Amino acid sequence: MSRGRIIRDTLAAVTIVNIGVIWVAQAAANSPTRPPDLAKGAVIAAQGLPPSVPPCAQCHAYNGASDGSGAFPRIAGQSAFYLAKELRDYASRVRTNAVMTPIAKALSSGGIADVTAYYASVKAPYLPLASPDAMLIERGGQLAKIGDARKDLQACDSCHGPGGAGEPPAIPYLAGQYEHYIALQLTMWKRGLRNNSPDAMADVAKRLDAQDIAAVAAYFQQVDASAPAATQPMK
Ligand code: HEC
Ligand code: HEC
Repeated sequence: MSRGRIIRDTLAAVTIVNIGVIWVAQAAANSPTRPPDLAKGAVIAAQGLPPSVPPCAQCHAYNGASDGSGAFPRIAGQSAFYLAKELRDYASRVRTNAVMTPIAKALSSGGIADVTAYYASVKAPYLPLASPDAMLIERGGQLAKIGDARKDLQACDSCHGPGGAGEPPAIPYLAGQYEHYIALQLTMWKRGLRNNSPDAMADVAKRLDAQDIAAVAAYFQQVDASAPAATQPMK
């Protein structure tokens, strides 16, 4: 074997080994091997990670109930899988928001795992809110439980579970979620401004008019999430 050939083969082998090392390092960075740390997640919620990540509690409250304004979603007890997916979607801009996109981008995958595990574990009370229009709630309840055959719209509960209690891990609860937030998200999907559920939610939202959106949003906000239908989804 010539000297040149040996050097060439050695270089090729070294290159392959290097590629292997890079690949293993990347795989380790992408899939955190340690389990999520709730205590670390609680610190992110309370204090953020200065200077780039503000405390989540500023807007979502330390217990994840946010506040009654409905500007911020309730995230307490939502599955860690769903919350983490939304943060990745904000970071990749398939879902965009002026506040959440930079926060999500500043979190590491480990930070996302920790803070979402923390909020998923919290049981927060539901804030007392003014009860909206009874007619609106009735119409919203029909859409939620039965859907609307004329619009070829299936019941929300067929995916979100009885009483909108959620079908973890992928489908969030709507029971007790804020009216204002639900209405905004449905409008964003309808207008093509939230793009992270192209098959399910974009299609559903396009079948809803403004009155339907107001109705389902008012209905789900007042669903008692502690009622049996909401807490014991039929499997
Ligand atoms: C300054 C206010 C603010 C802070 C601080 C904040 N958020 Fe948010 N968060 C929002 C707003 C507003 C939305 C709704 C945005 C939208 O319409 O998509 C939101 C939405 C979310 C969602 C999507 C929930 C859902 O039901 O789809 C998650 C998850 C979330 N925030 C997690 C966090 C975490 C974790 C932190 C801390 C690291 C945090 N947020 C800090 C304002 C904030
Ligand atoms: C075919 C299944 C399906 C049906 C039917 C459905 N949803 Fe959804 N919905 C989903 C999925 C999946 C998600 C999670 C999307 C994501 O990953 O961001 C979702 C998310 C949502 C969200 C966002 C919640 C949050 O915290 O941001 C709202 C609001 C919502 N749905 C309302 C409704 C309403 C109201 C109806 C009935 C009119 C309905 N959905 C019917 C599958 C469905």
